[in-house]
Amino acid sequence: MKLFQNYPLQDITTFHAKVFAKYYTVFSSVEFLRQILSSPELKTMPFILLGGGSNVLFTGDFNGVIIRNAIEGIEVIKEDEDAIFIKASAGEKWHDVVLYCVNRNYGGIENLSLIPGTVGAGPIQNIGAYGVELKDVLHEVEAMNISTQEIRKFTNTECKFGYRDSIFKEEEKGNYIILGVTLKLHKNPKVNVSYGTLSKELEIMGVTKPTIKDVSNAVIKIRSSKLPDPDKLGNAGSFFKNPVITNQLFEEIKTNHPDVVSFPAMDGFTKLAAGWLIEQCGWKGKRIGDAGVHKDQALVLVNYGDATGKEIYELSTQIINSVKEKFGVELEREVNIF
Ligand code: EPU
Repeated sequence: MKLFQNYPLQDITTFHAKVFAKYYTVFSSVEFLRQILSSPELKTMPFILLGGGSNVLFTGDFNGVIIRNAIEGIEVIKEDEDAIFIKASAGEKWHDVVLYCVNRNYGGIENLSLIPGTVGAGPIQNIGAYGVELKDVLHEVEAMNISTQEIRKFTNTECKFGYRDSIFKEEEKGNYIILGVTLKLHKNPKVNVSYGTLSKELEIMGVTKPTIKDVSNAVIKIRSSKLPDPDKLGNAGSFFKNPVITNQLFEEIKTNHPDVVSFPAMDGFTKLAAGWLIEQCGWKGKRIGDAGVHKDQALVLVNYGDATGKEIYELSTQIINSVKEKFGVELEREVNIF
C-alpha cells in the first residue's frame, strides 16, 4: 500500500479547487482495499472514497485519508436471447462502459453517454440524463461493508433508488464501498427519445430511425454544447437538484411566471428546472472572483481557475437564498460537500 501525505486534490477532483488531504491512497483490487481498511494507521481516521471526483466539493483541507477506487474490468456475466448482463468494476470510467455497450449494440445506457465520473459513483446518486436513470438498467450492486469487510450484493429494489438518491446516500451512507455493478441490457434495443432536447437534436442531425449509436452521438453533442468540459473549466455537473414542489406552490409560481419550466413528478407534485429558476434570479453567467455560474447552463457552477471550495460553496448559498426569496423554493445541493 502506497500512502501519500499532504496530497493535493486539485487534479483528482473536477472542480480543481486547491485543497489538500492529510493522506491519499489508491487500490486496484479487493485485496488492496482490505489491506487499507485493516491498516492500523488508517483505521482510526476519517476517510472519503473517491471515484472520478466529479461530484464533490471540498470546502477546506481534509484531515483524513482519501481512498481512490481504481478496480477496473468490464465483462459479460450471462446472456439469453434478449438480455445481456454486463459487470463493470467501480473504477472504470462510466463513459467507457457506455461506449463498450453502444459499440456492441447492447441497449439501455446510451442516453447516459458522457456523464463524467466512474462506475462506482453511479448507483450512489442514481445517475440520470435525457429520460433514463441508472435504476432502469441496474441489475445488482456489489459492495464491501467497511466495518466487517464482507462483500454483499444489493438488488435493484434493495438500492432504494430515487431521483439522484439511493440507500448509499441515506441509511447506508458511508457504510459500503461499491466494488462493481451488473447492468441488464437489451440485445434488441429500443431507443428512448422521449426527452425533448434529445428528439430535437436527432431531428437536427437528420436521423429519423435512430439507433442507440445515434442516440449516444446526439447526447454527446448536447452535453458538449451545454456542459463545460471539466478539464478546461472546473465544475461538477449540476450543482443543485431539480426541486420537487407541491402542485399548489407550482400554481402560485405559474400565476406570476407563466413560462416556468417544469416536468411531471409523482402525484400532487411538480419538478421544476432549477436552471430556469437560477437564471430568472439573474445568476446565469455571473462571476464572483473565480467562482461563477456557467453561461450556458445555470445549474452548473464553475471554477475559472483559483476559486477555493469555500468561495464556490458561498456562491451556492447566495443562489439558494435568492431562489428562495423570489420563488419560495428551497434548492438542494446535488454535489457532495466535504
Ligand atoms: N433551463 C433554463 N436555464 C438554464 C438551464 C436550463 O431555462 O440555465 C431550462 C431550459 O428550459 C431547459 C430545461 O431547463 O429546457 C432543462 O434543462 P436541461 O435539459 O439542461 O436539464 P436540467 O434539468 O437542467 C437535468 C440533470 C442533468 C441532465 C439533464 C438532461 C439534474 C440535477 N440535472 O438538468 O444532469 O444531464 O437533466 O437530462 O437533474 C448532472 O446531474 O450533473 C447533470 C448534468
